[in-house]
Amino acid sequence: MSKVIKGGTVVTADLTYEADVKIEGGVITEIGPDLSGDEILDASGCYVMPGGIDPHVHLEMPFMGTYSADDFASGTRAAVSGGTTMVVDFCLPDPGQSLMDALMRWDNKSTLATCDYSFHMAITWWGEQVFNEMETVVREKGINTFKHFLAYKGSLMVNDDELFASFQRCAELGAMPLVHAENGDVVASMSAKLLEEGNVGPEAHAYSRPPEVEGEATNRAIMLADMAGVPLYVVHTSCEQSHEAIRRARQKGMRVYGEPLIQHLTLDESEYFDKDWDHAARRVMSPPFRNKMHQDSLWAGLQAGSLSCVATDHCAFTTDQKRYGVGDFTKIPNGTGGLEDRLPMLWTYGVGTGRLTMNEFVAVTSTNIAKILNMYPKKGAILVGADADIVVWDPKRSKTITAANQVSTIDYSVFEGKEVTGLPRFTLSRGKVMVEESTLKTEEGHGEFVARQPYTAVNKALSTWKELVSPRPIARSGIPPSGV
Ligand code: URP
Ligand code: ZN
Ligand code: ZN
Ligand code: ZN
Repeated sequence: MSKVIKGGTVVTADLTYEADVKIEGGVITEIGPDLSGDEILDASGCYVMPGGIDPHVHLEMPFMGTYSADDFASGTRAAVSGGTTMVVDFCLPDPGQSLMDALMRWDNKSTLATCDYSFHMAITWWGEQVFNEMETVVREKGINTFKHFLAYKGSLMVNDDELFASFQRCAELGAMPLVHAENGDVVASMSAKLLEEGNVGPEAHAYSRPPEVEGEATNRAIMLADMAGVPLYVVHTSCEQSHEAIRRARQKGMRVYGEPLIQHLTLDESEYFDKDWDHAARRVMSPPFRNKMHQDSLWAGLQAGSLSCVATDHCAFTTDQKRYGVGDFTKIPNGTGGLEDRLPMLWTYGVGTGRLTMNEFVAVTSTNIAKILNMYPKKGAILVGADADIVVWDPKRSKTITAANQVSTIDYSVFEGKEVTGLPRFTLSRGKVMVEESTLKTEEGHGEFVARQPYTAVNKALSTWKELVSPRPIARSGIPPSGV
């Protein structure tokens, strides 16, 4: 049974051209004019693009005394409704827990997924067991990325000695570290002071983690990664201080990638000053939303190529969950949603305003991350042999974002009231139509785990260079006798 996406314009990270796309057995088998097949999907007036890949989501995440509300079923449903066909979640071992045991929990949760998914493994504690299990994670479990939290002191945070040890281990294994870059010690100290002074509302969350806190941690992680000889991926880059560190590192030849979120690109810190406690608390996430200067920096980074991918960090908590923090902002569960809105928002505010070309849009929503995570061209491509994870994008369809009509299970949207133009006509996951305009045809359990191999081209280049310039003893003749 074949399908043909007919009459559209194919848009990839580097090309725009008219062609039909034929799909058989879940993969693309032909691209060209006048193709025929058993089922025709009308793409006239539409762009045929690689489905979005969201490299940063937390589905049913155990965090701050609760679980994020969207699980792999509702989260991936939300994803495909907005044109995203793959998500990457974070496996989080408890303190002292085996990485393998944690992975079993994530394997169980993800059986509900509608679209394909992969995992990053988090390093939440350090010891010989973690050191050893990292090898199994990479060699046997198809995970080549390890996440490190420099924030969340007392729970997920790792110290610099642990961080450097893990970065060195990543280098040995051909893996890539990721960092949540905020100085957790400074955040904890500032939070305690703010509470003492009576700053207990959600606005104090933003006061407790200014851009300098993020810039410092980003610089530190970059330096440690450089010393360890590994590439580095900085998640949720939200401000100029962090972007500047990434830009400077890249300009010096370091392999550092920055990931702004659609929320930081389009929402600003004024959200925290809203008189409605719920409104402000619903936007509490780390790092917090910033002012326009920072937003402009992030957009410029996408244009210049110093920032690589746009994600959501989808970690959705209901209003009731957010209210755990009434009277103490440090207890508001950190996280915001946006999985279904990432593509329409970025298209509207990026392509629609002329900040991004359509090809850049594809690059930062799909192709770049597929390459960085070593799953290109299976994912992130419209090429013969690639998985048929495709969005048929109708640039004329529009809607007003509202919680009442969203797919995510939470009771509000941080993008409430935003008008977007550009929405999926069809979303296909490995050839299966999951979405046709507003109609969901999702199938729980259709999603498969995507295994990713280590030793990417970047890892290889970096280790070749590091080996060439590594410290070596100088061979000397005539060594003087010891002075003793
Ligand atoms: O506030 C956030 N970002 N919550 C999710 C966990 C994380 O830090 O990525
Ligand atoms: Zn984070
Ligand atoms: Zn996150
Ligand atoms: Zn299926």
